[in-house]
Amino acid sequence: MDIGIGLFGLGTVGRGVVKILQENAEQITKRTGSHLIVKHAVVHNLNKSRTGFVQNFPITDQPTDILDNPDIQIVVEVMGTLDQAYDIIKQALNSKKHVVTANKDLIASRGQELVAIAKGNGVDLFFEAAVAGGIPILRTLSTSFTADEISRVAGIINGTSNFILTQMATNNLSYSDALALAQDKGFAEADPTNDVEGFDAAFKLIILSNFAFGVQPVLSDLAITGISNLTDKDIADANALGYAVKLLGVAQRVGDTKEAISIEVAPHLVPFTHPLATVHNENNAVLVNGESVGEVMLYGPGAGEMPTANSVLSDLTNVATDLALNTPGNPFNSFNQDLNLAKPSQ
Ligand code: NDP
Ligand code: HSE
Repeated sequence: MDIGIGLFGLGTVGRGVVKILQENAEQITKRTGSHLIVKHAVVHNLNKSRTGFVQNFPITDQPTDILDNPDIQIVVEVMGTLDQAYDIIKQALNSKKHVVTANKDLIASRGQELVAIAKGNGVDLFFEAAVAGGIPILRTLSTSFTADEISRVAGIINGTSNFILTQMATNNLSYSDALALAQDKGFAEADPTNDVEGFDAAFKLIILSNFAFGVQPVLSDLAITGISNLTDKDIADANALGYAVKLLGVAQRVGDTKEAISIEVAPHLVPFTHPLATVHNENNAVLVNGESVGEVMLYGPGAGEMPTANSVLSDLTNVATDLALNTPGNPFNSFNQDLNLAKPSQ
């Protein structure tokens, strides 16, 4: 079966998605039974030169070229933005197209609404790449912890800030040079403010809280501190005392009430002996504490072209499998949209 894909965005992640689709086409077909074919890509600037992949599909700046195309069954949104991405995804879902997105800002703020729209239309909305780049944390939480009671989800969930902190500590790079390098490598957001001020980690922690605890915090419920005020001296002093400085997101249950969690993003002093202290550069690590399993740590690249694209591809191939089996609305996506919006405590 041929499955048509409409791609919104051909930047760092979009380019990686096209590369994997082209380079691993045979394996993907063997495993899913389908040919995944990019039919159209939408970009912002049609005059930009694009390299690194074979451009065997038309590029446009008109969303309707994808949204109105009946040969496109899956929309991949890897362009970022909030309102535009929301409108595109909503239209796609209402046209009964499946959607894969890497947009944590959007999923953290309007994911419940979009998941409800997807379910209402009997289509999939998957977003594995939205949290921790190449680490398959959402699928792990929704498939491997279904019978366990999670008490805490915590870790390094922003690659750019971890890259900056690592480079400042180990290569004596200045904050601004390290940030410029992270941008050059494609780890940072188009506007890196969210990376360095802790908001990107906060969006991811909101999504993680939903998957882990079934609660849906909003941004104003979180205590958020970024890394932009940290100095070389802060980091050197911490190192001298045996600590790494890491930006951590921590969401954990408090007291006996199942719905109450504390949730914060802030720089922490992590002893060099702790596994999180060994997570360098753009790598991420998520610790999950479950009553039955104890502590599990998932580690891997948290940002960047190919690792993030691999997470998008994992969603794409799952949609393809759902289409082949005629089972869209697959419960991988345990994003809770029927929540009793319990207010987390600080
Ligand atoms: P880039 O800035 O590299 O690419 C964005 C792409 O979207 C570009 O091709 C751009 O067009 C296009 N675009 C932007 N705005 C519009 C618009 N209004 N209309 C049409 N096209 C538009 O971003 P990334 O690839 O880095 O990130 C994409 C998404 O993936 C974001 O949501 C990001 O948060 C998320 N993400 C990124 C990761 C990473 O490591 N980079 C990791 C995990 C998630 P043009 O090329 O013409 O400028
Ligand atoms: N800008 C993000 C980061 C990309 O640095 O972690 C991955 O979500």
